[in-house]
Amino acid sequence: MKAAQIFDLAGEVALVTGASSGLGRRFAEVLAANGAKVALVARRAQRLDALKKRIEDSGGRAVAIEADVTDRAAMVRAFDAAEKAFGAVTILVNNAGIAHSGRALDLSEEEWRRVLATDLDAVFFWAQEAARRLLAADKKGAIVNIASVLGFGVSKGVIAYATAKAGVVQITKALALELAFKGVRVNAIAPGWFVTEINEEFLASEKGAEIKRSIPAGRFGTDGDLDGALLLLASKAGSYITGATIVVDGGQLVALA
Ligand SMILES: NC(=O)c1ccc[n+]([C@@H]2O[C@H](COP(=O)([O-])OP(=O)(O)OC[C@H]3O[C@@H](n4cnc5c(N)ncnc54)[C@H](OP(=O)(O)O)[C@@H]3O)[C@@H](O)[C@H]2O)c1
Repeated sequence: MKAAQIFDLAGEVALVTGASSGLGRRFAEVLAANGAKVALVARRAQRLDALKKRIEDSGGRAVAIEADVTDRAAMVRAFDAAEKAFGAVTILVNNAGIAHSGRALDLSEEEWRRVLATDLDAVFFWAQEAARRLLAADKKGAIVNIASVLGFGVSKGVIAYATAKAGVVQITKALALELAFKGVRVNAIAPGWFVTEINEEFLASEKGAEIKRSIPAGRFGTDGDLDGALLLLASKAGSYITGATIVVDGGQLVALA
């Protein structure tokens, strides 16, 4: 079998949350470049429109859908809009996320709930909605949740984020177990440090330089480093993989162990 065939996503409809920036923007472009029609979801509509144009200029198909992932009604509208444009969503990339700063003792209830609502609750509800619709349409599909190495280990000042990401790993396993018999695969990617808007200020600091020195690969992750894991989990190449979390971190996690 040729690689181009098993990774081909022609006929698939992908929905990427958090497509307005960073990793999500790249995920959307990679899925589109490999044949999927892509629904781009985030709050910043102008950015989604710009990405839709880039994808279309490269010969792909995309639709921009403004939605806040923490809003359940907006979620239903987003799936409806994606279906209306392209048909049932067969690949969900649950990528939208936020970070926070602040040690545990200083973290407000509001901040805790904001992070958990975005990084944990929304991951479950969007996966649940995608799976319900796939089963109703009698279709197979793939859900890819974006976790983090901070779902496995922690550093200071990340308690809400790390708790959410550990939860994402567990959501991935629990959903995979319940959905495998229906042909809906659920997996996760746990990236290490990639410079994006979520962390660029922090990674440019002296602490960031220290982190970089601690990464066995000697660098932060960059464009393209997650393409392979995403395509594996989203395509036929990963048809017998479910419940897995693929760590893509330049060796950071093994170095911590
Ligand atoms: N960069 C890293 O080093 C790293 C490492 C491990 C895991 N991750 C994970 O990777 C994912 C993407 O992060 P990133 O690094 O690409 O950060 P980013 O550049 O800040 O992108 C975050 C994306 O999430 C969207 N988003 C945030 N809250 C949202 C909400 N309530 N509703 C809809 N969309 C929302 C943002 O869009 P709008 O603001 O337009 O809504 C944006 O598109 C996150 O889950 C993050 O935790 C990142």
